[in-house]
Amino acid sequence: MRDLFREDSDRFQRFSVTFEDLLLDYSKNRITPDTMQLLAALATETKLERAIEEMFSGAKINITEQRPALHTALRNRANRPVYVDGDDIMPKINAVLERMRSFSDAVRQGQRRGYTNKAITDIVNIGIGGSDLGPRVAVEALRPYSQSTLRVHHVANVDGTEIDTTLQDVNPETTLFIISSKTFTTQETLTNAQTAKDWFFQHISDKAAFAKHFVAVSANTQAAKAFGIDKECIFEIWDWVGGRYSLWSAIGLSVALCIGMDHFEELLAGAFAMDEHFRTQPFDKNIPVILALLGIWYNNFFGVHTHAVLPYDHSLRLLPACIQQLDMESNGKSVSRDGKTLEYATGPILWGAPGTNGQHAFFQYLHQGTQFVPADFLAPLISHHPIGEHHTILLANCFAQTEALMRGRSEDEVHESENQGQAAAKIVAGNKPSNTLLFTKLTPRVLGSLLAMYEHKVFAQGIVWNVNSFDQWGVELGKQLASGILKEIQDAGSTGPHDTSTKGLIAHYKRTVGPV
Ligand code: F6P
Repeated sequence: MRDLFREDSDRFQRFSVTFEDLLLDYSKNRITPDTMQLLAALATETKLERAIEEMFSGAKINITEQRPALHTALRNRANRPVYVDGDDIMPKINAVLERMRSFSDAVRQGQRRGYTNKAITDIVNIGIGGSDLGPRVAVEALRPYSQSTLRVHHVANVDGTEIDTTLQDVNPETTLFIISSKTFTTQETLTNAQTAKDWFFQHISDKAAFAKHFVAVSANTQAAKAFGIDKECIFEIWDWVGGRYSLWSAIGLSVALCIGMDHFEELLAGAFAMDEHFRTQPFDKNIPVILALLGIWYNNFFGVHTHAVLPYDHSLRLLPACIQQLDMESNGKSVSRDGKTLEYATGPILWGAPGTNGQHAFFQYLHQGTQFVPADFLAPLISHHPIGEHHTILLANCFAQTEALMRGRSEDEVHESENQGQAAAKIVAGNKPSNTLLFTKLTPRVLGSLLAMYEHKVFAQGIVWNVNSFDQWGVELGKQLASGILKEIQDAGSTGPHDTSTKGLIAHYKRTVGPV
């Protein structure tokens, strides 16, 4: 890459794209114009353009579940009709958005109060996976827009620690629980929801109080009602919204409560703007497609099966976890859309942590490890917390890291700077690729665009790899086995037909703790 930069003074202009407030610099990649053209030809050959249209128009692209994947309809701010089985779904979407608006306004303005007529002070969203990560990231990232004293908590883990510590911190008279589960069958969410319900009734005996403190977001209205949620308190989502793509639906209710519905709609507008970009721009100007093709370049042509997301923004520290679910649950697949075993690598291992913390933890590996790790660096130019020199120091580090990864330090440079022993250990090979995404400020609109950008990157890769990015059958196996093992752990009798390791672990538990 050093040579490529030396030979082409326009390399930065050639390999950077702007979109609204966002700049993508992908010049620090092992590419030439030919590489990008050939990769774009691969996308064309795999009919990406047609696939994009199919997704937006509601074709049943999730073939194993015979459903469309219509997260884009949830943020279709142009309100163009979108049909599922002949019905325009936009009126339903708009109606739920309206309900979210009146509900969040009423809570934020103190009109919808707790059963003792005290204003709501705390929101607890109970959900996991896509019913947790997207809202959690957005609430953390957009706190500067909250303009409210509401405290928003998210509980996901079935480990009792999370719900227990949260409940210790809130008051039943002033807390609103949102049970967020598309299926309303997820073990972790239902267990946490039941614990919250039991805790509530330990403090408040009046059954009528429940409706003032518990609402649900679900596609399974029956199960939500069976749990005791009043039908007026259920916000509907639909089976054509994938869990990891559901932030834009009522699953984002905790976000709307935190930042207000106007800001939530700005988040949707940012995602919609990225949708339009993805749908209309040619591949060589199309940010999600460029990112997708670069990922494929390293994954399939260099055999590098890992990718890091490194936000240089403390408020985006949860972003890697969210993109990890999006990417790995979507493209962690080894059969094609027509059911054949694939003979090439698909989705990478995606991971990351915020800068500059990562620099003092795993960056040594990025600079001098035996494998290379392509990475996305993301940073706002202007901070919401402009204190002293903090932000310029942060940015200087961000820019320095991508330069160091690209340039490295040659043997000559080591000798020039310090003419002493141990030179080999000080040589840094460089030639490590990275993308830099800069945005003016982390606004709701920018966050919406960034999240939609990653959704579309993952989708475009799924099309080129010919996998269904919208199912997750592997996850189901673990769920099934866990429910069987749960019974065995609870039961004093013998264990089922497991391998000796699993049997040994269950037996060890029972010997030490006893059946529950
Ligand atoms: O982990 C599998 C998964 O189905 C995710 O795709 C989903 O986001 C999560 O579980 C939660 O599902 P639900 O919203 O139905 O509780």
